Amino acid sequence: MTKEIVVSGIRPTGKLHLGNYMGAVKNFVQMQHDFHCYFFIADYHSLTTHPNPADLHVNVRTVLAEYLACGINPEQCTIYVQSDLPQIPELYMLLNMHAYKGELERVASFKEKAKTQPDNLNAGLLTYPVLMAADIIIHKAVKVPVGKDQEQHLEMARTFGNRFNRIYQTAVFPEPFAFNYGTELVKVPGLQGGGKMSKSDGDNNVICLSDSPELIRKKMSKAITDAGPTEPNTPPSPAVQNLFDLMKMVSNHDTLKHFTDSYANCSIRYGDLKKQLAEDMITYLNPIRTKIEDIYNDTAYLGKVAKLGAEKAAASAEQTMAEVRAAIGFQKFYS
Ligand code: TYM
Repeated sequence: MTKEIVVSGIRPTGKLHLGNYMGAVKNFVQMQHDFHCYFFIADYHSLTTHPNPADLHVNVRTVLAEYLACGINPEQCTIYVQSDLPQIPELYMLLNMHAYKGELERVASFKEKAKTQPDNLNAGLLTYPVLMAADIIIHKAVKVPVGKDQEQHLEMARTFGNRFNRIYQTAVFPEPFAFNYGTELVKVPGLQGGGKMSKSDGDNNVICLSDSPELIRKKMSKAITDAGPTEPNTPPSPAVQNLFDLMKMVSNHDTLKHFTDSYANCSIRYGDLKKQLAEDMITYLNPIRTKIEDIYNDTAYLGKVAKLGAEKAAASAEQTMAEVRAAIGFQKFYS
């Protein structure tokens, strides 16, 4: 039986954090055994914020090394850098011909950017979901392991793929869906009391996979809490609930129960909760953290992985693009 095709990627904006791991990479590692997987580093996507060339290169290298440290195996799946595949911008351009300003302006991530960075609302941001659709459908993926924040982008990918099929009377693209091994898509909360774990809310909001034990302890000690429960069995504030949610991910059941019980009977000491959570995060991330530096410094190995991945991914992308070009009506006048 042929295995279902899986695609996912991460923007190289610096070190990977626990949100990226729980929402995406942890699934990648498991999926590589069950499916035909393509995992990439979305360097084109990171250009919307205009990184300088030296930073861009370091960040791509960082994500590549961290993918490998997490256990993504280049012999089990295909790992590549997005900009190594010229077929992706080609498909992006072709899909753009059938992507409309109105629908793109309604995408939540674009509306958010319109608020947070009104001075840099470039066309790349507007058409970001089109590039993401190209990434996914170029390999004919049906499963896309991502966090909850990417759900709407997946819906757009289905829209653009279906639209192409309909307009050109073809069945080139299957429908891709967001995937997580759990019952629902994951949203890892940050440490500063707000919504999801994200670097845009500052370094203290995120736990990175490469953070040293000391740094994790320091960040956890600064995590936001509240004045503490005053009556038994009241629901925790969002900031404290975030810490319980993180504990559910990295601590064992007894630890979680101890702290939720002590919250419920008002005997909780947030200092103890944060200390315990820091230690459990350190233990949880230790097997990954200890591998990152060696892999990052192994230029020859990284080069080998990226080259092999680019070759395998380009072969798949080229096959799809031959179908796409033929469906559109491009025919060579020479052979
Ligand atoms: P990016 O780079 O922002 O995030 C990468 C992956 O990490 C997940 N993630 C989270 N999951 C749970 N909780 C969090 N706090 C959290 N923070 C990040 C994201 O959901 C994502 O899965 N547009 C994408 C990159 C991309 C892509 C693709 C993904 C480009 N092309 C094609 C899948 C398929 C992005 O910006 O993710």
